[in-house]
Amino acid sequence: MNSAGVSESNAPLLQVLDVCKVYEHNGSRTEVLRNIRFDVFQGDGLAIIGPSGAGKTTLLNILGTLDRPTQGTVLYRGIDLFSRSHREWAAFRNQKLGFVFQCHHLLPEFTALENTMMPALIAGHSRQQATQRARVLLERIGLGHRLHHLQGELSGGEQQRVAVARALIMEPEILLADEPTGNLDSQTGSQVFDLLLEMNRKHHLTLIVVTHNETFARRMQRVITLIDGKIIDQ
Ligand SMILES: Nc1ncnc2c1ncn2[C@@H]1O[C@H](COP(=O)(O)OP(=O)(O)OP(=O)(O)O)[C@@H](O)[C@H]1O
Ligand SMILES: [Mg+2]
Repeated sequence: MNSAGVSESNAPLLQVLDVCKVYEHNGSRTEVLRNIRFDVFQGDGLAIIGPSGAGKTTLLNILGTLDRPTQGTVLYRGIDLFSRSHREWAAFRNQKLGFVFQCHHLLPEFTALENTMMPALIAGHSRQQATQRARVLLERIGLGHRLHHLQGELSGGEQQRVAVARALIMEPEILLADEPTGNLDSQTGSQVFDLLLEMNRKHHLTLIVVTHNETFARRMQRVITLIDGKIIDQ
């Protein structure tokens, strides 16, 4: 029970409350998100689908406090994320969230193993522990033979898989993944999706995935469709 006397397991983990996002550009306004409202429960598997430009990445960035809504807010366990300081956001991101970005953002001067270990080293884990866990994750994702390749020595799909391993190394409570299988062939894409679903089902990772792949979306518990910044069904 939390301080409000509500059973935590029944309370939403995230509550998206009438989120709107407007970009002002040379005097013109673009409404990218319009009154987005939904709950996410612990252990949920949620797919966000919709055409290019619908606002999917913008929404994911707001859920991860990388961007702020113009109106509305997001509650994490009942706490308004956007009433908090930048330092508290950083702590929330480091401790609770894993991100897989649409562009993977690996560090070019480091190997697959080192890129995967990086969040654990930054958090102060021992090199031995970080290496061990990174190795297991990379092997799981089919990259056991690419541990010591630099980013430039990996294919686009291999880089994307390293980004997934890196996002999982801190065992986040919530994984936000933007097209994690975007540039993978169907077999490798399934491998990545299988790993994400296994983390979701066996380890209760709360998974929020933007995908264009309908087969993958159908394998998730819930699907939200965004069109022109609005949810059209759930
Ligand atoms: N910083 C910005 N300034 C102005 N407009 C922006 C900005 N960022 C995004 N947009 C616009 O907001 C809309 C939604 O962008 P977003 O990246 O969320 O789309 P998306 O659904 O992720 O698309 P895709 O499937 O192509 O990745 C787009 O029309 C985009 O041009
Ligand atoms: Mg996008």
